[in-house]
Amino acid sequence: MRARRALLYMPGDDLHKVEKATTLGVDTICMDIEDGVALNRKAEARATIAHALQTLNFGRSERLVRINPVGSGLEEDDLQAILPHHPDGFVIPKVRSAGQVHWVSEQLAQAEWAHGWPERDMVLIALIENARAIVNLAEIAGSDPRLQALIFGAEDLAGDIGAIRTREGREIHYARSAVVTYAAAFGLQAIDMVFMDIRDTEGLCVESLQGAQLGYSGKQIIHPNQVVPVQETFTPSDEAIAQARRVVEAAAQHQAAGQGAFTLDGMMVDAPVVKTAEWVLERARAAGKV
Ligand code: COA
Ligand code: MG
Repeated sequence: MRARRALLYMPGDDLHKVEKATTLGVDTICMDIEDGVALNRKAEARATIAHALQTLNFGRSERLVRINPVGSGLEEDDLQAILPHHPDGFVIPKVRSAGQVHWVSEQLAQAEWAHGWPERDMVLIALIENARAIVNLAEIAGSDPRLQALIFGAEDLAGDIGAIRTREGREIHYARSAVVTYAAAFGLQAIDMVFMDIRDTEGLCVESLQGAQLGYSGKQIIHPNQVVPVQETFTPSDEAIAQARRVVEAAAQHQAAGQGAFTLDGMMVDAPVVKTAEWVLERARAAGKV
């Protein structure tokens, strides 16, 4: 799967921001038609995104579009306007059930068939941001072969359950952990919540690292200044890669000698430690580092 260390949103009706996004070297660009766009600008956003997909060079960045929620009454027009221009995939917000993912997937299948594009050419990512989605995580995570990642939406979730947001985030910790756990159980990527204070780079780095430590492979971002700190945090450092290699190599040697557990630098190494080291190497590979 491709790296999605940072997923940058911008309002789909703002061509300048879309153009700017293509110059930032960000893994994923997500042009929004949902909550970042005013109700009376939805048509403008659809037209602007269609234009951007036709005319801009996105380089190596992935081209995603966040449609309005299934059931909002806007989603069909969103898909109809965007699908002919073949983005790399769609983000479905406020997902509540597997059926909603299936419905979008079916629209993509029809477009692929109608245009003669390869089957499952376009991917789906589900935003987990309400209580119902947390309760239905297993059915959503296992819903569709197009689904590649789950995104955790902390602000909407807090609104949905009546929590008061704090810097520490205890109020959303259960959901944040649940999303990353179910994503892993179904072989999906997990993309962490937005850090809202665009001036506070230090706070952004702390929260990004927390997400990486929880097992997230990337983070949603909302401003160009967030690209570098976030992508760096989700890229294993040279030291981490070197250490992971040592662990994997030493484990292979000890396995061959019939030893499942051994010590390295005074620390016990066994299967789960090796698994963690393999994750580090996997992330480094996805980021093009090894
Ligand atoms: N993507 C691409 N470019 C962006 C950007 C984004 N998300 N946010 C800001 N920029 C650009 C600005 O257009 C400006 O470009 P310029 O220097 O060429 O004029 C530059 O980066 C600096 O922007 P700045 O002045 O610091 O921010 P702003 O006041 O223009 O915008 C926000 C602040 C919060 C409105 C803006 O960052 C934004 O729209 N973020 C995304 C919001 C969103 O999509 N929300 C829904 C998903 S959570
Ligand atoms: Mg949201």
